[in-house]
Amino acid sequence: MAKMEVKTSLLDNMIGVGDMVLLEPLNEETFINNLKKRFDHNEIYTYIGSVVVSVNPYRSLPIYSPEKVEDYRNRNFYELSPHIFALSDEAYRSLRDQDKDQCILITGESGAGKTEASKLVMSYVAAVCGKGAEVNQVKEQLLQSNPVLEAFGNAKTVRNDNSSRFGKYMDIEFDFKGDPLGGVISNYLLEKSRVVKQPRGERNFHVFYQLLSGASEELLNKLKLERDFSRYNYLSLDSAKVNGVDDAANFRTVRNAMQIVGFMDHEAESVLEVVAAVLKLGNIEFKPESRVNGLDESKIKDKNELKEICELTGIDQSVLERAFSFRTVEAKQEKVSTTLNVAQAYYARDALAKNLYSRLFSWLVNRINESIKAQTKVRKKVMGVLDIYGFEIFEDNSFEQFIINYCNEKLQQIFIELTLKEEQEEYIREDIEWTHIDYFNNAIICDLIENNTNGILAMLDEECLRPGTVTDETFLEKLNQVCATHQHFESRMSKCSRFLNDTSLPHSCFRIQHYAGKVLYQVEGFVDKNNDLLYRDLSQAMWKAGHTLIKSLFPEGNPAKINLKRPPTAGSQFKASVATLMKNLQTKNPNYIRCIKPNDKKAAHIFNEALVCHQIRYLGLLENVRVRRAGYAFRQAYEPCLERYKMLCKQTWPHWKGPARAGVEVLFNELEIPVEEYSFGRSKIFIRNPRTLFKLEDLRKQRLEDLATLIQKIYRGWKCRTHFLLMRKSQIVIAAWYRRYAQQKRYQQIKSSALVIQSYIRGWKARKILRELKHQKRCEEAATTIAAYWHGTQVRREYRKFFRANAGKKIYEFTIQRIVQKYFLEMKNKMPSLSPIDKNWPSRPYLFLDSTHKELKRIFHLWRCKKYRDQFTDQKKLIYEEKLEASELFKDKKALYPSSVGQPFQGAYLEINKNPKYKKLKDAIEEKIIIAEVVNKINRANGKSTSRIFLLTNNNLLLADQKSGQIKSEVPLVDVTKVSMSSQNDGFFAIHLKEGSEAASKGDFLFSSEHLIEMATKLYRTTLSQTKQKLNIEISDEFLVQFRQDKVCVKFIQGNQKNGSVPTCKRKNNRLLEVAVP
Ligand SMILES: Nc1ncnc2c1ncn2[C@@H]1O[C@H](COP(=O)(O)OP(=O)(O)OP(=O)(O)O)[C@@H](O)[C@H]1O
Ligand SMILES: [Mg+2]
Repeated sequence: MAKMEVKTSLLDNMIGVGDMVLLEPLNEETFINNLKKRFDHNEIYTYIGSVVVSVNPYRSLPIYSPEKVEDYRNRNFYELSPHIFALSDEAYRSLRDQDKDQCILITGESGAGKTEASKLVMSYVAAVCGKGAEVNQVKEQLLQSNPVLEAFGNAKTVRNDNSSRFGKYMDIEFDFKGDPLGGVISNYLLEKSRVVKQPRGERNFHVFYQLLSGASEELLNKLKLERDFSRYNYLSLDSAKVNGVDDAANFRTVRNAMQIVGFMDHEAESVLEVVAAVLKLGNIEFKPESRVNGLDESKIKDKNELKEICELTGIDQSVLERAFSFRTVEAKQEKVSTTLNVAQAYYARDALAKNLYSRLFSWLVNRINESIKAQTKVRKKVMGVLDIYGFEIFEDNSFEQFIINYCNEKLQQIFIELTLKEEQEEYIREDIEWTHIDYFNNAIICDLIENNTNGILAMLDEECLRPGTVTDETFLEKLNQVCATHQHFESRMSKCSRFLNDTSLPHSCFRIQHYAGKVLYQVEGFVDKNNDLLYRDLSQAMWKAGHTLIKSLFPEGNPAKINLKRPPTAGSQFKASVATLMKNLQTKNPNYIRCIKPNDKKAAHIFNEALVCHQIRYLGLLENVRVRRAGYAFRQAYEPCLERYKMLCKQTWPHWKGPARAGVEVLFNELEIPVEEYSFGRSKIFIRNPRTLFKLEDLRKQRLEDLATLIQKIYRGWKCRTHFLLMRKSQIVIAAWYRRYAQQKRYQQIKSSALVIQSYIRGWKARKILRELKHQKRCEEAATTIAAYWHGTQVRREYRKFFRANAGKKIYEFTIQRIVQKYFLEMKNKMPSLSPIDKNWPSRPYLFLDSTHKELKRIFHLWRCKKYRDQFTDQKKLIYEEKLEASELFKDKKALYPSSVGQPFQGAYLEINKNPKYKKLKDAIEEKIIIAEVVNKINRANGKSTSRIFLLTNNNLLLADQKSGQIKSEVPLVDVTKVSMSSQNDGFFAIHLKEGSEAASKGDFLFSSEHLIEMATKLYRTTLSQTKQKLNIEISDEFLVQFRQDKVCVKFIQGNQKNGSVPTCKRKNNRLLEVAVP
């Protein structure tokens, strides 16, 4: 939502207040809370009037994109949320359009984000100023000077991983169109002591680490270096690696930047050679050597390093070696040479290293200036960006901190002066009455330090120049004498008894109450550092170097230009350059960025209120706000004011025709804002109290809501109406189409219904006609029939007189008679044969004769059977009786039976009477012989058979030998109990005898005969006639036969026969006799 809204003022969607001037009530707590609230919402920038307060977010925020640059471009300062780009834009535009030189003063303590801010300003200006190949090159060079200077001038400190160890002021020069022409960089006092010694947890300047990490092997060899930090005494090891910093990559960036800025390859190489020489200098060590005069003289321990340095720099080794052992003091015409002891030699070595490095740094700045120098001589507009080391309070604060803090004091002062001045000027410009404002002016502290007669710096210089023994202690004593009464100076030894017992104040220290807090300075080293002494022998040795860059760094080493005057002290040099800077700044229109560090941990999202409170206090931000709103809290040009609030009054809404000021007057009158609450300036309205502004804002918000409702209402009405119209139009179209469709459909329906009805009606009509026609036809037929009957009746009536009354019945009977007669006569002719087995019979002629016909057939059959029977003789009758008996006994029971039907029963097959062989046998039998036949008697032991004559008489059964005719057995028929046989096609049979009878003593008989059926039948009939008992005939394929004592099972098996179709008998065991039947 917020993104979509068009911002027209920083008052829109503010988090807290965007301008501290609007803070109600105004006090430290609300101030900090407002900052914190905004910080928590990623709003790191807040205004105090035109001053930007920036809180370091310690993480990258998406607020520096090219789109953001476009957002802020050409917009008024108060139009959008506070941003460093707004300030940059304001400065750039007033430079370009109003021809006012600008300076951007970035202050804040170490790590607060000054350097980052300066880079943001530069990149914004680069992005919005003119374009073109030449201009772009200038921009690139200006921007790329940063990485080079940061590599050589920045270092990791406990406060900041990329802390600027020098002050930098850069003038960017523009032509009348606002296109950049070039720039000039001034540097202030590099903290060169860092080259030889770094506090714990800190590093030397970045370039040393970058070179060792990022240089190729080849380059390292050339520079006689090793890729190992621990090899070099000047590099502290405890934080050689910095989190998130890639030294090797940065080295490449720096080399690249050097190229863009315009360094020749040989120049860049020379620079690196000097860096290497400095690094190697630290490895030179000294040892004491006793001399004849009893004094110690220092000697170099290992000359190898010295040799390499000399090779690298083209210095005569013996010259340099001597310079580390002797010191020549020249005075007027005299030259005195004294030996150096070990401590002095180390001091000399370090002094050389520091000087070499700091002079190299100054040379670099000059070289960059040469490159980025504007090429034309036309009048330039200037925008200065000041990024100076921030106010510092360490545990051990030395000369450097003193200088740095002095510089910050000066900046604070100029800030106060210029803010007040600007405020005052604005009031005058706008013709508003000026009211006095109370604020803390730090001029008094500046005076304590820089006063030419009794300032601390002057005292220090005095001490340094004084003949006689000068030490840090003598300097402190002097301070104690001179500054003791100053209210911002504190020392244990001062005359002022206030601090006599203050244990927090050591004897070797003094304390200054800076605007930003009290700082305790260790006096040790002040004198030396201020003197910044480099023995002349060393500078002369350097001047003699074959290395042109080194030679150029030490012009004082030229014996031809010997200057016996002491060079200016470091303190006085700095004071002078700060004075120039201040003068320079005063000529320009100032823009302030006040950086605040939210925490000590370099961490994102942490807002340490105590820390911030401290910074707010010493930066005097609260005073800043008070000054700003001493008279009037808020001011705004008439046009934007009218534009913003015109909807609050009927006369000004929606358009005000007259001048903006008049409009605002009408508006304020209408709103009944008390007159004392505002003043009309020339171009701006001044509002005394933020409350009034917020009231206006509230009214505006309310009104905007009403207006939004109105717009919404109208829009909704319009939308609904258009929607309605569209719907109506659509509805008509749809209705038309639908009606057409419905009508079509209805028509189709009616049509088809009509057709159906039509067809039904036609059908109905047709049927009706058909019915009528049929009726007509039937009527006609009926008429004919009736007529016929009528005629018949008429005819019969006519002829009835000719018949007797019962003639009908008689005719009927006669007809029947005739038919029956005819039937019988026909039957006579069609009679079948007299054979009882003839099945033929003529078919029935009339249905009513059916039963007669059947009865006739039966009678005829019975008759012809009788006829047939009547032909039989007695003998034949007997034979048939026997055959009938056999049929009853064996039909469908024994398979042998059918073959016996056709054979006549002969009984006496063996004619005993005629054969003389059997005369004896014949004589022995008196009774009539019914059967005489030869049978096979089965041997009970082995199943073999022997022939026997079988004789059946009326009462006995006889067996005789076939050859002799001798009777073998005689069994009375009463002793025969049963005859057994198989159901199969064989002639085996057994005759069972009554148990206990005489005949049974030898056991039952087992025979085989071809005339089994006849024999069994006759045996049955004879037994029945003689004993009146039915003989039991068992037909079974398995039966028991009594053989003497044993019962043997005779079993009939159907199967293949070895000897053809004759059944065989075999005794299997003593219990089984098997008969195989074919
Ligand atoms: N606007 C910012 N956005 C993101 N990170 C920032 C911003 N400003 C500062 N920082 C972070 O804070 C670190 C310190 O900032 P910077 O080097 O600008 O401090 P400084 O005020 O110049 O300190 P010194 O006085 O020591 O030079 C930066 O390295 C960066 O990580
Ligand atoms: Mg910095």
